[in-house]
Amino acid sequence: MTQIRPLYNQFAEYYDLLHVNKDYAGEVKELKKIIKRYKKSDGRELLDVACGTGRHIFYFKNYFSCMGIDFHESMLKVARKKMKDITFKQAEMELFSMRKRFDIITCLYGGISYTLSVRSLKDTLINFVHHLKPGGVIIIEPYFTDTQFKPNRPKLSTIEHKNIKIARLSLSRRKRNLASRKMIMTIVEKDKGVFSFEDERDVALFSTEQILTNMKRVGLKAIRIKNGITQEFDLYVGVKE
Ligand SMILES: C[S@@+](CC[C@H](N)C(=O)[O-])C[C@H]1O[C@@H](n2cnc3c(N)ncnc32)[C@H](O)[C@@H]1O
Repeated sequence: MTQIRPLYNQFAEYYDLLHVNKDYAGEVKELKKIIKRYKKSDGRELLDVACGTGRHIFYFKNYFSCMGIDFHESMLKVARKKMKDITFKQAEMELFSMRKRFDIITCLYGGISYTLSVRSLKDTLINFVHHLKPGGVIIIEPYFTDTQFKPNRPKLSTIEHKNIKIARLSLSRRKRNLASRKMIMTIVEKDKGVFSFEDERDVALFSTEQILTNMKRVGLKAIRIKNGITQEFDLYVGVKE
């Protein structure tokens, strides 16, 4: 089972601002090339799993017929506000069930790593494959692998916007096969004052072999693209034979 993270409920409305420097448009441009290269099915139905506030869908929708699912209603609320014509559904990636089949299923920016065990990763991939058309493509972007992860590095990041300033302090530690991050975020906002959130969350540290092996086990022809689309996380592409 994946864990429930209350923080997303609290900070969903600040998510886009916190990621203002992430190049979603550029990422989608690269993802489009990967989809063109590997997808064998004819359609253009795309499902973005753990879509958050819909930042990738915002660009994907120019080329594909899109739908998004996420565990947190608060994140979906932000997505729906931006894109009234797109369907966003609350669902858990391991368990969602639809009659519809897709040509492309994406799960980006560490989303898949919220499955906290190899068993849960496999169950989630089985569910993805079940919702994929033959010749369809799955693209996943896990968090760091067990060897890439660098624990115990104190981090400070700040965001300055006209009426909002945000400071985030965090430290990630290794907890067996998980990365456990503790974070404190303080926000000062015009009309709202000064307030803080505290969060501790775990994500899985899968090895490259664990990911590729399980993609193959669930019937995908799988490859790894080192450093992926962000130069930070690797990307894995699976094609349903
Ligand atoms: C780091 S955010 C990435 C969001 C989005 N893909 C992006 O690139 O901005 C991770 C997302 O995973 C969602 N999430 C976590 N566990 C989930 C689960 N079990 N099923 C579906 N979504 C989940 C969270 O609600 C959050 O929106």
